[in-house]
Amino acid sequence: MYSIADCEIINLPKIHNEAGNITVIENNITIPFDVKRVYYLYDVPMGSERGGHGHYKLQQYIVALSGSFTFVLDDGVSTKEFFLNDPSKALHIKPGIWREIKSFSSGSICLVLASDIYSEDDYLRDYEEFLNYRKG
Ligand code: TYD
Repeated sequence: MYSIADCEIINLPKIHNEAGNITVIENNITIPFDVKRVYYLYDVPMGSERGGHGHYKLQQYIVALSGSFTFVLDDGVSTKEFFLNDPSKALHIKPGIWREIKSFSSGSICLVLASDIYSEDDYLRDYEEFLNYRKG
């Protein structure tokens, strides 16, 4: 079982010149798993909250491609907030962690790189069920 102490902000490579920046993410080099799915949240109305679930096995890298938002991670014992506003940083969410997403800025885009394809069976959508799972 992973704790929120295992979830950290990763500095991604940034190639900078006067014409702008490039950030590159490569499987098993800058990201420690094979990316099997890419999705992004956008057009999120101001004040909306998303997330509210955990995953049994999925791990994810989260990048604020544009704007900002806050991920609140919860391992059943403690919670920690991660403010994301920099496309050269990723939040690594390990398996078995509950997350809420809040405080989306207008026009923000949240990129998610995921270790597996979509499966509803991998979701923990009920918080009590999540806590029971964490307690083993
Ligand atoms: P969900 O993961 O609950 O979104 P969030 O955590 O951002 O609030 O997904 C919302 C809906 O979209 C849910 O009905 C499942 C569907 N969905 C897919 O069909 N495929 C996907 O890859 C994802 C991420 C979601």
